[in-house]
Amino acid sequence: MKITIAIDGFSSCGKSALAKALAKELGYGYVDSGAMYRAVTLYFLNTGVDLENPESVHEAMEHLEIHFENAGSGNRTFLNGEDVENEIRQMRVSEMVSPVAAISEVRRAMVKQQQKIGKKKAIVMDGRDIGTVVFPDAELKIFLTADPKIRAQRRYDELQAKGQMIEFEEVEKNLRERDHIDSTRADSPLRQAEDARVLDNSYLTPQAQLDIALEWALEAIRLKTKSPRDFAS
Ligand code: DC
Repeated sequence: MKITIAIDGFSSCGKSALAKALAKELGYGYVDSGAMYRAVTLYFLNTGVDLENPESVHEAMEHLEIHFENAGSGNRTFLNGEDVENEIRQMRVSEMVSPVAAISEVRRAMVKQQQKIGKKKAIVMDGRDIGTVVFPDAELKIFLTADPKIRAQRRYDELQAKGQMIEFEEVEKNLRERDHIDSTRADSPLRQAEDARVLDNSYLTPQAQLDIALEWALEAIRLKTKSPRDFAS
């Protein structure tokens, strides 16, 4: 039985890592919706789009195409046919992505594409509005949280490992700003869906959080598999 799993939460909570691991365990597809907003941001940066100018934004949106390809190492993000997976993780993109993701025209286009990708179910998608806007009927919604200091440390370690020299304070500041913009924007702000299950992974190992999420997923699949007759008895 195929279900849709939505994982939402603040920046650098480990949503993508959990979504990826969960998809692998279940044999489901995985989509990192944040990568799509990052690819749009990269295009805007490279072509000098003025975020305050709706015509400039509209023109740019007409000229960009984003898709994912599954390489041996996992999903890679393509922008107009070019693999931009590494570039979209750079700090210059992280610094601009929240204002770009707050633009309604950008959101409309991305949500439409995400819903199309998720039509066949058997998918785990992570982001900010997946359980509230993209898939409000998802059978399992997980709201992932972690202590802000711990999130900043994880992000800092990740960037260091990639050789990006950056101060811890700058990473922490960027996270704080993104949390603020993502949760206060007018269009589809980050919020916990009423029927979401909260998972705080501050002090959980990746395996421990995967075990919990997997148990919830199997429970949701069992529930969906039950026939109406089972409920009557
Ligand atoms: O998950 P991430 O940090 O890679 O996401 C990058 C940005 O994209 C994040 O600051 C908010 C935005 N985003 C969004 O608004 N809606 C989504 N579904 C996913 C990401």
